Formats: sequence, C-alpha cells, structure tokens
Amino acid sequence: MVSETDGGVRVAGYLDRIGAGKILIDAGPLSYDYIPDVIVGRDEELGQLAGIFQQIEDHTISCRVAITGNVGSGKTVLSHVFSRDLQRHLGDRRELKLVHVNCRNHPSKTQVLQHIVTQLDAGHPERGFGSGEILQSIRKQLHGSSRHMLLILDEVDHLLRADKGDLLYQLLRIDEGRADKGTISLIIISQEQVLDQLEGAVLSRFGRSNHVRLQSYKAAALTAIATQRAQLACHDGSISEGVLRAIGQRAEEMGDARLAIELLEYAIKQAEVAGRAEVVVGDVRWQSRNIGRTVEPSIVDELNPHAKMVLLALCRRLRKEPEVTSGDAEKLYHVVCEEYETEPRSHTTFWKHLKRLDALDLIKARTDSRSEGRGRTQFISMPASLPGTLEKRLEGSLRVN
Ligand SMILES: Nc1ncnc2c1ncn2[C@@H]1O[C@H](COP(=O)(O)OP(=O)(O)O)[C@@H](O)[C@H]1O
Ligand SMILES: [Mg+2]
Repeated sequence: MVSETDGGVRVAGYLDRIGAGKILIDAGPLSYDYIPDVIVGRDEELGQLAGIFQQIEDHTISCRVAITGNVGSGKTVLSHVFSRDLQRHLGDRRELKLVHVNCRNHPSKTQVLQHIVTQLDAGHPERGFGSGEILQSIRKQLHGSSRHMLLILDEVDHLLRADKGDLLYQLLRIDEGRADKGTISLIIISQEQVLDQLEGAVLSRFGRSNHVRLQSYKAAALTAIATQRAQLACHDGSISEGVLRAIGQRAEEMGDARLAIELLEYAIKQAEVAGRAEVVVGDVRWQSRNIGRTVEPSIVDELNPHAKMVLLALCRRLRKEPEVTSGDAEKLYHVVCEEYETEPRSHTTFWKHLKRLDALDLIKARTDSRSEGRGRTQFISMPASLPGTLEKRLEGSLRVN
C-alpha cells in the first residue's frame, strides 16, 4: 500500500513539473481514432445519408451509398457516426450488424472476406479457405439470422485496384434467387470519384445517384472541430476563441480536420510544457512547425526572380499533387515565365535553381530508381512548407519586381 502511494506521488510530481494537467483533462479526444458522439458541420450530409437509408426499416430493403472527399474531410468519422446512429435508431425493429473494413489494411478480396466473416462469427477459422467458401459462410451466417449487415468498405480504392469490382459484384448479388432480399447494405468510401471506376453491372446494382460528396473543410468548420475537441479534452477557459480561430485558419490550406486536431494537440502540449494554464496563439504558430512545416515563408523574398518563378511553378502543382517530376516542373516554369513576360533560363540554370531550392529545404527532390540511367528525372515535393502560402507570397513579390 505504502509503495503504491509513493508511486502515485512520484508520478504526480513528475507530471507537475512539466505542467501537465493545467490545461488537459483527457487526451483521448485528441487521438486520431477517437470518434466523437456528434460531428460538427455535416448536418446536410447526414441528412443525405438518412434519405438514402430512408427505407432501411423494411426487412426486404438493402441500401447503398458511396462517400467521397479529400483526406481529412471526415469520411471515416461520418461513416462511423452515421452507422452507429442508425443502429441505435432502428433498435430491435431491425438488428444491424456493423462491419467496418479498411481496405488499405485488407487490400485483397480474400482479406476483406476474411475480415467480414470473423466479425460475424468470431469462431471462424483464420485461414485455409478460398474466397468462394468464405462468401458461402457469410451468406449462411446472415441468412440464418435476422441480422442485417451494414458493411463499410473504407478506402475502397485499394480493393478496387487489385480486384476491380469483383467482390462488390458478388456482395451486391448475395440475395439473388431469394424471395426476401435485404441481407447486406453497403457504404463504400474513397478519396476519388469511385463510382466512375465501377463497371456497368456493379454500378447498375449500386445506383449512380447514391453519392455523398464531402467538400474540404473551410476555416470556420475547422475551428468548430477544434473547439469541440478542446471542450472534450481541456479545462474550461484554457483555450480562447482566438486560439481556436487561429487553428482553423492554419488548417484551412489543407482543409484537413486531422491537421486542426494535431495543431490543437501540439499547442496544448506547448503551453503545458511552458507551465501555463492557458494556450496562446503563439503556441499554435510554434507547434505548426513541428509537424513538418519548418520553413518560414519569408525566405522566398530573398530568392532571385527566376528561382521565384521555378518555385511558383512547383507550388501551383504541389497544391494539388504530392509530387511533380522535374520534367513537368520545367514545363510549368516556362508557363510562369510567359505569364511574367520573361525569357526562361536554360535547362542547366533551371537545374541549378532546383538544387538551390533543395538546399534551402524549400523543396525535397528524390530520384526514382526506375528512371536511373534515363537522364535525371527527379520527383519533387514540398514537405516543409505549405505550397498555397508560398504561392501567394511569391506572386506578391514577383508583381513588385
Ligand atoms: N465534422 C467533424 N466533426 C468532428 N470531428 C471530425 C469531423 N470531421 C473530421 N473529424 C475528425 O478529423 C479527423 C479526420 O477525419 P477522418 O474521418 O479520418 O477523415 P477522412 O476519412 O476523410 O480522411 C478524425 O479524427 C475525425 O474524427
Ligand atoms: Mg478515412
């Protein structure tokens, strides 16, 4: 007993020293897989889903929907909250069995099926069955009970890459030849417009109109998301509205809710380490560097005009894509030169500028092994700064010149 008390005191004392607990009550709501009871700012999309699942109480009905949107637009959390709400709403009028599969972790048809069958029947053997046999087991499990499965295939593009639409086709046909249909409802989730990738036979069973598109979040929505997490995780009054607004604004460039939550978490840590009971805007700024945005935008002001134009060309592409090849970059640079009515520099000078930008950490260039020996194609990314921010700054400073 004595030693336990001792231990407790020691731990508390240690936490005290780094200031922990002055702001944070519970770190759980800041973790990446935490699912809040309600989500903020997606009422319209929840309404669309409710519309698509309007008849789900009817035991002969199956529903299908595709959810698409960029990284961090809340696809996964929306599917969790909606399916959980639906399950509660139906109660015992129709028993829903929720099965979430992340196809990034289970990218083959057999892996997905295996995951499903162990969710339905914990005793099902892990290995040794082909996909046809597992599908049979799933059919038997579901037809033998009154349970309706709501299957959520998250990051389904990973499955479609390997499997085309084969598994979806089989799942959608599971009731064929039976009088009472309605065994499986399906939510598929992807960043891309996944419906375009489905073959006619799958698409006609799926329903083209069953598509919920999530727009990337704007600053106000990101602020609301950060506010919700702050209320769940922190002491009242420890984070002001101004700080939360700064987080929303910073995260807006990516439109990614995950970034807003990370910024919040790092800002809290920063304030606690400093021993304060309140987060200030400076904590947000400081910490945003720690998650990979290390280069101060003002560095671009010092560059010569052609380096600026090379970088501007890169920013415009890297705002939308994670990487650009050096070949494309040079073409884009020529377009920028035209815009500013200057003659582009030579190929060799272009490469010198790339090297210089790399040395400044403004860009990161990697050589792809496949392109070795075929000239020197490089893949350029911008991990340490936000291309949209740099782009605005570059345009401003090139206009002055
Ligand atoms: N509208 C929202 N309300 C509350 N939290 C949200 C909302 N949208 C996203 N989040 C949170 O932001 C993070 C990223 O969302 P996520 O659903 O994983 O995005 P996606 O699957 O589109 O990449 C998660 O922690 C999620 O809980
Ligand atoms: Mg997701």
